[in-house]
Amino acid sequence: MRRALALLLLLSACSAGRKVAEDGRKIRVFYNNDNFAYLETCGCRVSPIGGVDRRWNAMKAYPDDSRIFLDAGNLLFKAQRATEFLAPQWYEQAVGVVDAYNLLGADAVEVGVNEFALGLDKFRELANRAKFPFISANILEKDSKKLFLRDSVILHRQGKKIGVFGLFGKDLPLPSTLEAQDPLPVAKRMVEKLRREGAEMVIALTHQGYDADVQLAQKVSGIDLIVGGQSQSLLQKPDTEGKTLIVQLSNQGQMLGMVEYDAATLTRTDFVVAELGGEFSQGPKDLANPMKSLVAVTNLRIQEANRGLDEKIWAEKFPEEISFETSITCRNCHEKQAAFHDGKAHSAAFLTLMSAKKERNLDCVKCHSVGFGMPGGFQAIADAFRDAAGKPVPLEKVRKLAGLNFPPPGVSYRADGARARADVEHWNASLQKAGVRKSFVSVQCENCHGAMPGHPFAGPHPGKVTVQACTQCHTPEQAPGWYKNGKLDLEKAQAAIAAMKCPR
Ligand code: HEC
Ligand code: HEC
Ligand code: HEC
Ligand code: HEC
Repeated sequence: MRRALALLLLLSACSAGRKVAEDGRKIRVFYNNDNFAYLETCGCRVSPIGGVDRRWNAMKAYPDDSRIFLDAGNLLFKAQRATEFLAPQWYEQAVGVVDAYNLLGADAVEVGVNEFALGLDKFRELANRAKFPFISANILEKDSKKLFLRDSVILHRQGKKIGVFGLFGKDLPLPSTLEAQDPLPVAKRMVEKLRREGAEMVIALTHQGYDADVQLAQKVSGIDLIVGGQSQSLLQKPDTEGKTLIVQLSNQGQMLGMVEYDAATLTRTDFVVAELGGEFSQGPKDLANPMKSLVAVTNLRIQEANRGLDEKIWAEKFPEEISFETSITCRNCHEKQAAFHDGKAHSAAFLTLMSAKKERNLDCVKCHSVGFGMPGGFQAIADAFRDAAGKPVPLEKVRKLAGLNFPPPGVSYRADGARARADVEHWNASLQKAGVRKSFVSVQCENCHGAMPGHPFAGPHPGKVTVQACTQCHTPEQAPGWYKNGKLDLEKAQAAIAAMKCPR
């Protein structure tokens, strides 16, 4: 859906490159919102967009002293809460995001609801690491009634003073020790304060959603630009309410947004909303892009953080009640169906992650496995393999038996059934040698048929495989080919199910 909406390129990447030579008497406000901790494009999309390396290339095409970079929140985390086992990796990812924003020269970030996913202490640690301020003019500490963060910043560009204040949606959730004041009176006060301090342009950086931004523009005068977030309302052209411009992007760092002003008159001279596609993979020639190595280091730290989970999980007692059997059991009685699926990319989905060195990234593992986070399923790679007694078998043990260069980097099983079959058979043999009797990794029987504890001797008769089973993972992002204008293309989905139908 987003792609269909978002093809607008008011300024192409090559014209962005040409701007470098220009005198720089411009002020360019770059913005982002609802980044949800994304540093990379997802590895799975047909034509992936986004990524901090492309954002860096796009922004560095303009002179440093012309640039402002603002973010309207939901920057650090994917959701409002993390499970115990996801928390370590989310922290590492957020560190990567802060480091990336430091390098991008961020000037201010309004906090969003997700910023507190790991609690206030972790938020403070990350805010301390940031070279930019997290701001908000209407979030108070409940007890003291003092401001929780800085209310605003004044930026100096091209001889001009630009005031930026933050606003948080009144009814959005906050940690229990914080509260948000009504944004409108606060905004009036902030505009007066910033003008008094000499601001020639005033920007409201808001995390309250598009409708509230329109209200703000209508009810509070003196705001030149509202950089909004939270509702993820992609505005392909700036919205004008009186003299106020409103901008907002979609999410996941997929888009670039920029408003350009003439530095002398502060009149708007240009506006860019563009997908961060492949045309941004080259930056200015004389500048090395630091983002690729930053992302690589973050990914390594995630792998290591989750390796640390192993000891923690093994120290705890494993649940006795297990409702997923996994395909190792199913294949005992359903050999023909199992052999059919061995030749499908599903059965190699975890090998794909190993090949991409993402096998411990639980945000990837959740769709490339069965029973993740569910009762009787598994919580982390540490408990994804079990022996006959239900005790965990370390992934390393299986990998050693499979051969350390298995599978090699860059393997793709999609549309290569023969390769999938050969590698899955090799992997299954290694599981067997390692004494594994249950393996939750890769997409399996119970992803499609559902868990069926007691089968075939007790429990409910397995139901028909439904489209809903598929769309848990085949989302618009991961499988754009299944969707048309944001709606599931039922014919395509049914055809995919037919292709996956087990033989009798
Ligand atoms: C001990 C042998 C055994 C095991 C293990 C077993 N099944 Fe079955 N399964 C059967 C038998 C026998 C039938 C046919 C009787 C019935 O329909 O319940 C059957 C039927 C089915 C059916 C078809 C039901 C229908 O609509 O006709 C599905 C689907 C199925 N099994 C899936 C699974 C899955 C998935 C697993 C692993 C979680 C599994 N089975 C494990 C023996 C087994
Ligand atoms: C648990 C998540 C998950 C579920 C549920 C799921 N898939 Fe997939 N599917 C994947 C992943 C991951 C891949 C890619 C595997 C790889 O290449 O490593 C994939 C790949 C595919 C492919 C391309 C495979 C090929 O061999 O070319 C098709 C087609 C497909 N899935 C259909 C379906 C259908 C139909 C359903 C529902 C009946 C379904 N999937 C359910 C995760 C899932
Ligand atoms: C929401 C579920 C979901 C998540 C989360 C997810 N994937 Fe996938 N992935 C899929 C599906 C579905 C496919 C198959 C898409 C298709 O074939 O249309 C897939 C396919 C892939 C492929 C195969 C591409 C090819 O063409 O061979 C790779 C590589 C991959 N995913 C890596 C990752 C990585 C790395 C992550 C974590 C950053 C991840 N995935 C997270 C569902 C997911
Ligand atoms: C990608 C989805 C998918 C996966 C994975 C999958 N199946 Fe199926 N299976 C289907 C579909 C679709 C049917 C057709 C019946 C239906 O719609 O429920 C089917 C039918 C069956 C049947 C009934 C066959 C018949 O018509 O009598 C059995 C038994 C079965 N599957 C077992 C398994 C076992 C065992 C596994 C794991 C080795 C497995 N399936 C993996 C999708 C899947």
